[in-house]
Amino acid sequence: MSLKGKTAIVTGGNSGIGLAIVLELARQGANIVIDYVVHPETELDLEQQVRALGDGAIGVKADVSSVADLQTLIDTAVLEFGRVDIMVNNAGVETRTSVLETTEAQYERVLAINLKSAFFGTQLAARQMIKQGGGGRIINITSVHEDWPMPGNTAYCLSKGGMRMLTRTAGVELAPHNILVVGVGPGAVATPINLGTMQDPTLLQKLNNAIPLGRMARPEEIASLVTFLAGDGASYMTATTIFADGGIMQSSPGL
Ligand code: BGC
Repeated sequence: MSLKGKTAIVTGGNSGIGLAIVLELARQGANIVIDYVVHPETELDLEQQVRALGDGAIGVKADVSSVADLQTLIDTAVLEFGRVDIMVNNAGVETRTSVLETTEAQYERVLAINLKSAFFGTQLAARQMIKQGGGGRIINITSVHEDWPMPGNTAYCLSKGGMRMLTRTAGVELAPHNILVVGVGPGAVATPINLGTMQDPTLLQKLNNAIPLGRMARPEEIASLVTFLAGDGASYMTATTIFADGGIMQSSPGL
């Protein structure tokens, strides 16, 4: 239980990679504020699972694209558990639309949920960490597409590229406070965001063929990295992204 006594906030915490992160942080003993918007019916059950695995848990329905809602997450952590040690900016959406197709509403939604939330999540968590003293960890869940173009998913790539630079710049700015800011860049993970691909055997085969390890990741394979980054073993890592992508960024399309 390496995170015993620590408090974590996980945005988008009841689905996909966020859900796996919540369960893994719980196994390490952290208290967790679980932010959610979708599937509110699963919330109480998840809180019970977290308490059974480790320590405290509280679910908060908060829209991370609103700064006021993000502040509610921080305030809840402080009220319930006394502090914020680990902020995981995980919530994310994509539209699978190209630069020619993307509407203003799609653009604004993707940038607000993915990037604005990570920016203000970082800001508000860092302010609280500075106030309480002792440093902290901010972990931004980005993507291989923070660096690697994904034609047909333009707004998503923009948002992840922004998170890449947020991680680097905030990491430098917050280093004097011993607040470490690290990005985690997954490749293709078996989560609801990729359901379309997973349900289409031809697309899935094509994707698996492009991944040197030959398969998509399980969400737990990303969560284990996040837990490592939240712990003592990662005390010298900041202002960078660690990729867990099965090698996909290095592979050639084999043409
Ligand atoms: C995207 C997926 C995509 C994967 C690999 C992820 O960030 O959300 O849609 O399949 O990257 O390209």
